[in-house]
Amino acid sequence: MLLTVADASPSWADVLQQIAKAENADALNTLEQQIFGRKDGTMTLAMKELKDLDGAGRMERARELNEEKRKLVEAIESRKTALTSPDDGTLKKNDALDVTLNLPKKEQGHLHLVPEFIAEVEEIFGRMGFDVMYSPEIETEDLNFTQLNIPEDHPARDMQDTFWMKTKGKEKRVLRTHTSPGQIRYMRSHKPPFRAIFPGKVYRKDADATHSPMFHQFEGLMIGKNVTLANMKAVMETAVRELIAKDATFRWRTGFFSFTEPSLEMDVRWKGEDKTKEGDWLEIVGCGMTHPNVLRNCDIDPEEWQGFAFGFGVERMVMIKHQIPSIRTLFPGDLRFLRQF
Ligand code: DAH
Repeated sequence: MLLTVADASPSWADVLQQIAKAENADALNTLEQQIFGRKDGTMTLAMKELKDLDGAGRMERARELNEEKRKLVEAIESRKTALTSPDDGTLKKNDALDVTLNLPKKEQGHLHLVPEFIAEVEEIFGRMGFDVMYSPEIETEDLNFTQLNIPEDHPARDMQDTFWMKTKGKEKRVLRTHTSPGQIRYMRSHKPPFRAIFPGKVYRKDADATHSPMFHQFEGLMIGKNVTLANMKAVMETAVRELIAKDATFRWRTGFFSFTEPSLEMDVRWKGEDKTKEGDWLEIVGCGMTHPNVLRNCDIDPEEWQGFAFGFGVERMVMIKHQIPSIRTLFPGDLRFLRQF
């Protein structure tokens, strides 16, 4: 006889045993009805009684019932399977392998904030028709600086600013200081019109709360017949809203980069309570209309083609998005930090 809910606490263990012993499909169906019937199933009624409890008591009871319910459903399913499998005597009960053993749950990892963000960047720009290219991290001095119209005496070429590689040959190599050389490589291997982004690591001799000797950027480039500054602003504002927040507040400033003319910079308002050392606004990107000299360096006629380029700082965007006041927390791989996201 099935226990009813009239018992203060039906013994679910007994019910489980009855399920396991059900002799045929009909008996099992009847049991299932008695437990889960919509009107007066034992479990249904027990669930209905939850509403009479309050607060923590109700939560605790609900958790218990759900656990019992899960066991019952499982037991019914496994009995159903047992009853419907032909018993040809070849698999004796004792030979059976219990694959239902509950092992402790395996901990699942997830991507670090930075690669996760870059994957989002690729997705969002992909939707806007941008190609993705990965450009080398060890770059020639020529592509990192000269081809980008950066003058010979620019301070970024100093030992103090840049990691130079020991090179035997004549060509000097650096750990790229920005993702901009990707522009040159792309323009030399594709014919305009095109639009593409180049994400990756960059390196500078810089270290404080908002600078790190290794950080990530993603460069963007769009060249066509009539591409204007208005297109640039539209693309970049869309990206910032999608990547950081729909209501992100930002401001445009004029800037200077030798590979763009005119050049602009964009700052985004810092929302966190802990201030960064830079105050309310964090510069996240430099951009502008591609300089004619850069186009010429890639055999593209500036009389015919024009467009824009930008270089976003990934960590700074991640910092604003998640209100992380120091860039340094992003890199040590401390799980207590990473598990928060
Ligand atoms: N490469 C610059 C930097 O790292 C950022 C930048 C500025 C990239 C203007 C661009 C650009 O493509 O047009 O500071």
